[in-house]
Amino acid sequence: MRPLIAEVNLAALKYNFSVAQQAAPDSRNFAVIKADAYGHGAVQCAQALQTSADGFAVASIEEAVELRIAKISLPILVLSAFSQSEEVELLAHYELMPVVHSIYQLDILAQNNQSRTPIECWLKIDSGMNRLGLNKSEYLQAQAKINGIDLIQAVGVMSHFACSDETHNNFTQIQINNFSELTDTIKLPLSLANSCAVMAWPASHKHWNRPGIMLYGTSSIDNGQDSHLQPVMRFYSQIIAVKNIRKGQSVGYGQTFVADKDIKVGVVACGYADGYPRGIANDSPIVVNGYRTRILGRVSMDTMSVDLSLVPQAQVGDQVELWGERLAVREVADAAQTIPYELLTRVSKRVPRVYLMDVDKS
Ligand SMILES: Cc1ncc(COP(=O)(O)O)c(C=O)c1O
Repeated sequence: MRPLIAEVNLAALKYNFSVAQQAAPDSRNFAVIKADAYGHGAVQCAQALQTSADGFAVASIEEAVELRIAKISLPILVLSAFSQSEEVELLAHYELMPVVHSIYQLDILAQNNQSRTPIECWLKIDSGMNRLGLNKSEYLQAQAKINGIDLIQAVGVMSHFACSDETHNNFTQIQINNFSELTDTIKLPLSLANSCAVMAWPASHKHWNRPGIMLYGTSSIDNGQDSHLQPVMRFYSQIIAVKNIRKGQSVGYGQTFVADKDIKVGVVACGYADGYPRGIANDSPIVVNGYRTRILGRVSMDTMSVDLSLVPQAQVGDQVELWGERLAVREVADAAQTIPYELLTRVSKRVPRVYLMDVDKS
């Protein structure tokens, strides 16, 4: 077997969830586990969180059904739920809560009014992000339409932030105000906050919050407020070859690294087909045997090369941390000019996930 593993620490996941709870003690939480729990394994994460979360949020009906088949019985919010009539029966059968972001979806629900099982749906307001969501007049139209659809048993109202990770950007407050203007007088369950809003925008805490990335121990917040979260994924591999490179020789495709002195180079079993970003720059950080060193040359499909001059005893079989406890995924994301969300969700199928079970210490 290749030595490359994504180890998932479920106790850290539960700890991070408790941080979200403590930050907003009056709110309930849909733990966002879409995209296979941001690459960590949706069923395993749901099982670990099912005694503490109040519900889960996923992107699609397929993701929700996977959880139901695994006997997850908590409420499931489906963020990009449906666009076709045939899907309504699935929503009802699996007792899923669809997010309605467009009027045509209410027309679909109205056409399926004969379905026996009632549905609880969430209306999504566009409070300024201009992605999915109803504008003010559509929202008022939706409220009126819903009254005529018996299939809809209950309704919540939600919205999503564009910039909640920027703690000095007033746009989040503007979105909160826009949302309040439409919802202050109604008595329905409301939901606004994602992770960064849970951490940094208390005015956005409503009946339900929707923390995602913070559960996995990171975020893109700009004020370091996520530093007390615990990393959940440790992505690690091994050195599979060691080479001595002489001054003037190059390493890897495209000769993007040329040695300015004689150096020792390690080849690591991890490449872009495993989800490691190919575009990451020469000199980006990586940890060998607990020592921080740097990536040399271009990342290949299955391997990458690292500088072992700072780890002179390093040999074949030594451990390499791509990200995890000693190297934050956010630092790697910065070096690759992306965000932790992208790195975590891209760890590919061929990388085995190994679960560190949650040991109940009580
Ligand atoms: C509608 C919605 N709510 C909540 C979340 C969770 O966001 P975060 O991972 O930033 O906490 C997302 C993630 O993209 C989302 O699309």
